[in-house]
Amino acid sequence: MSISDTPPDSHIRKAVTINDLRSRRSSLDRITMLTCYDASFASLMNDCGVDILLVGDSLGMVLQGHESTLPVTVEDIAYHTRCVARRKGKSWLMADMPFGSYQESPAQAYRNAATLMAAGAQMVKLEGGAWLASTVRFLTERGIPVCAHLGLTPQSVHSLGGYRVQGRDHKAAEQLLADARTLESAGADIILVELIPSSLGKRLTETLTVPTIGIGAGPHMTGQVLVLHDILDVTPGKRARFAKNFLEESGSIRGALERFVREVKSGAYPAPEHSFSE
Ligand code: KIV
Repeated sequence: MSISDTPPDSHIRKAVTINDLRSRRSSLDRITMLTCYDASFASLMNDCGVDILLVGDSLGMVLQGHESTLPVTVEDIAYHTRCVARRKGKSWLMADMPFGSYQESPAQAYRNAATLMAAGAQMVKLEGGAWLASTVRFLTERGIPVCAHLGLTPQSVHSLGGYRVQGRDHKAAEQLLADARTLESAGADIILVELIPSSLGKRLTETLTVPTIGIGAGPHMTGQVLVLHDILDVTPGKRARFAKNFLEESGSIRGALERFVREVKSGAYPAPEHSFSE
């Protein structure tokens, strides 16, 4: 690689740490996050300056071809976490706790989170509201950083009645804010929200002191996350409204990743057409 091919800042970028993420509250320093399931993409994402690589349970849909994330196992996530960990460079590695791996008890959650941390994860992500508080406390007190996932929680797709926008009415919005505050008090280091109106995303970011990361949650978040296959437009079926095809305007996979980072940092993404109203 010649000097002119060197991606901007790759040689000076410092390793992303939990303290760094906690301090990223300014709109000038938004957090960039993408799902990542293998070593080659981990290396490319690190080069492009993606802050957080998420070994998401979306791998059940985009890699394994399932209809939902429910069949994904701890061993599936651990395998892909090991692959990503080998080439993640300075990016931060978050791993999803799959359906059925943490809902029973804090001790069950700890055992499975420990498997993912031993595989190379630096943080785990769990889906759920205030009922998760004792588990979040149990994990964080034992040295496992936690991201709590609220709003549309895909592991609950059958009880939510489909993949639909959450928190649209007053009661549901207040409930989501209360859940987020409870999880923050329990020790959650990041609150991730999926598919909520932009106005609720704004209130959430203003209410909490920890970073907020959104997917289909509008522009007022500390960071943005998308599924890799969505930004490269290789997810089968119709692309979700909030997901942008970054490959189209970039012409290469590296270009698409760099553009994602640039547009999240500048605030160009998400645009109004990627966001939801009440
Ligand atoms: O598994 C996943 O892809 C997720 C999304 C929020 C990005 O959890």
